[in-house]
Amino acid sequence: MKHVSRYPISISLLHWLLAVALIGNLIIGWMLDDAENLLALHKSIGIIILGLVSVRLANRLRVRRRLPPSTNRAGTPAYLVEKTVHHCLYVLMLAIPLLGWVKTNAAGHVASCFGLFSLPTLVPKSRELSHWLGELHSLTAYGLAALVGLHVLGALAHQVLKSENILPRILPLPRRVEQEVATSKRG
Ligand code: HEM
Ligand code: HEM
Repeated sequence: MKHVSRYPISISLLHWLLAVALIGNLIIGWMLDDAENLLALHKSIGIIILGLVSVRLANRLRVRRRLPPSTNRAGTPAYLVEKTVHHCLYVLMLAIPLLGWVKTNAAGHVASCFGLFSLPTLVPKSRELSHWLGELHSLTAYGLAALVGLHVLGALAHQVLKSENILPRILPLPRRVEQEVATSKRG
């Protein structure tokens, strides 16, 4: 079997594009209380994120046979934590913008993306539903932030505890650069 040590470039590009967009929209979300004028921007970026996450999941399915094996041994606690965190990250990446969308509908508005197009209205106006969907949207956003922290700590743990640098696995480096890095390491 061919040993694959790096994620395909499509996975790496979508990983970093979404990491920037998600962390950016988390920050904008937390600024909304003091800057309501950011709400339209927050919703628009969130809708783009929803589209990108759908592309990411479809692409993950497309390249599923070309993924590098985990650096954690199957069945170990580290392996189970890694898989659980990755699954939860995917679920939250999808659930958060969906909740934002229906919360907006329940508040009596359409979810518009930079005024260019609007998503269909899924639920009728309801004060109570709007309140609870808002709470859930906020709670899941906190969950995402906590899991991203755990995810980064996991990558750091590989470096500190196992002297294993797993970052290049997900960096969108062209193959030539990767080989040069490997050659210079051998000296
Ligand atoms: C919103 C932010 C982020 C999200 C949602 C996220 C999500 C994910 C997911 C779901 C995977 C698994 C890929 C797969 O197998 O399908 C992954 C892999 C990875 N991520 Fe992130 N990530 C984020 C930010 C970061 C940051 C800031 C780092 C920096 C340390 C990082 C480092 C990595 C690494 C090194 C891998 C590959 C793990 C391996 O060796 O298999 N991620 N990320
Ligand atoms: C993945 C993308 C998204 C992230 C990470 C995110 C994150 C957040 C955060 C952190 C807050 C502040 C919560 C609080 O402090 O209580 C917030 C509020 C809000 N978000 Fe999002 N959001 C996203 C997508 C969306 C989308 C797509 C929409 C609508 C189309 C949306 C609509 C809203 C609304 C209306 C609020 C105010 C909630 C309230 O007043 O209860 N969000 N979001």
